[in-house]
Amino acid sequence: MKNIRFAILTVSDRSAAGIREDLSGPALVESVKKAGWEINRTEIIPDELSQIRDVLLSWCDEKCSDIILTTGGTGFAPRDVTPEATKLVIERETPGLCEAMRSTSLSITPHAMLSRAVAGIRGNVLIVNLPGSPKAAVENFEIIRPVLSHAVELLRNDPAAETGHAPKGN
Ligand code: MTE
Repeated sequence: MKNIRFAILTVSDRSAAGIREDLSGPALVESVKKAGWEINRTEIIPDELSQIRDVLLSWCDEKCSDIILTTGGTGFAPRDVTPEATKLVIERETPGLCEAMRSTSLSITPHAMLSRAVAGIRGNVLIVNLPGSPKAAVENFEIIRPVLSHAVELLRNDPAAETGHAPKGN
């Protein structure tokens, strides 16, 4: 599927304050474009539960994206609250995406166990939490990338979804 529309939300106190350059958002933008898909929203916000929730809600309600990727705030630090904010927004959990990201990432680093990422659906929009470092964010995106076309066909209730049950995705 060609026209998948993405939004990318960087969640980081330091990047939002301009203390550290956001490298993860741009790295994800590059990966999404390389896959042939489009980006129509990007934003950098601090690790504040209410702000994360409000941006996710407004992006879902605008219906401008099929998939929202967040990067950052999924670890164990006291300010890591992206999963909690995401849970306030989603209506249906999609645990398989996070199971795949964590289990595949374990062959790269045992630190994959420290990801508390969640994913789920609000309306027709899929939200996926990714880790905060550019390397980890891109690695995790690459793990789920092969199933995203079919995921969006299903979200759009597209009849093409019927023929999209190929074992390797796409
Ligand atoms: N997954 C992959 N593929 N590669 C990584 O380097 N880093 C882990 C994990 N998942 C990592 C990964 C680390 S160190 C942490 S703490 C958690 O993701 C959560 O990251 P976050 O707090 O930056 O969101």
